[in-house]
Amino acid sequence: MLTPEEIKARKSSGEKISMITAYDFAFAQMAEAAGIDQILVGDSLANTMLGYKSTREIGMEEMLIFVAAVCRGAPNTHVVADMPYRSDKDPQTAYDNAKRFMDLGASSVKLEGTPEGVIEFLRSKDIPVCAHLGLLPQTAENFKQKGKTEEEAAAIEAAAKFVDSLGCFEMVLEHIPEELGTKITREVSAATIGIGGGKFTNGQVLVMHDALGMHPRKIPPFATKFVDMYSLGVKGISDYIASVKRPV
Ligand code: KIV
Repeated sequence: MLTPEEIKARKSSGEKISMITAYDFAFAQMAEAAGIDQILVGDSLANTMLGYKSTREIGMEEMLIFVAAVCRGAPNTHVVADMPYRSDKDPQTAYDNAKRFMDLGASSVKLEGTPEGVIEFLRSKDIPVCAHLGLLPQTAENFKQKGKTEEEAAAIEAAAKFVDSLGCFEMVLEHIPEELGTKITREVSAATIGIGGGKFTNGQVLVMHDALGMHPRKIPPFATKFVDMYSLGVKGISDYIASVKRPV
C-alpha cells in the first residue's frame, strides 16, 4: 500500500499516480486487482450510487458504510475518504469525522477548498490530507471550467500554494485549464492529481462510473469511457430474461 510519503515521492521519480473512485466491496476488489495506486471513495457516490442530484445530499453516516466496504475490498490499496459537505465545517468536527474514516482503514482524507483552520488542525493530528481545488462540486454554482480568467486562475494558484504550505501530500485539481494545472504542478511540493487538469499533473483520477461506462448519461468532457458496462449489463440481463422465458 502506498503511503502519503511514497505518493509525494512520485513527483520526483516521475512515475504517474493512478487514482479511481470506487464505492463498494466488489469494485474496490476490481480496482485493487488491476493495480490502481489509490482508490477515492468520493462523495460523487451521492450521484453514482444513490441517485441524489447533488453531493450536498450525502452525510457522514452514509459515507462511513461505503468507506468501510472499500477498505474491506481493497485492503492493500491507499484509500482516500472524501469528507462530505459540512463534515469539515470547523476544525474539531473535521477531525472527529476524519478520525472515523481513518479508524475504518482509510489512508487519508480529501476535502474541498480551504475551510478555515481545518487543514492545519488535521495535519497537527497527523491526518494525511489530500486537498481539492478548481471546480468544487459541493459548493459550485455550475460545473463550468474554473480558472479561465486571470483573477480566478490566480486565486486557485494561491490556494494551491497555501494548502501545500499546510502540508497536504496531494491535491486534486478539477476542471481547470491545462496551463494552470501544469503551473501548479511545477510550483507545489504536493503531488497533483488531475481530473480535467491537463496531461501534466502528477497523476489522474476518474469517476469509475464514467471510466467503465456504468450509466447511460453523457460523461464530462475531460473523462474517458474505457468500457461500456451499462450496455454489457443490459445485454447480460436481457439474455438471462430470455433464458428464463425460453420454453423448456
Ligand atoms: O467525489 C469525487 O468523485 C471526486 C472526484 C471528482 C475527484 O471528488
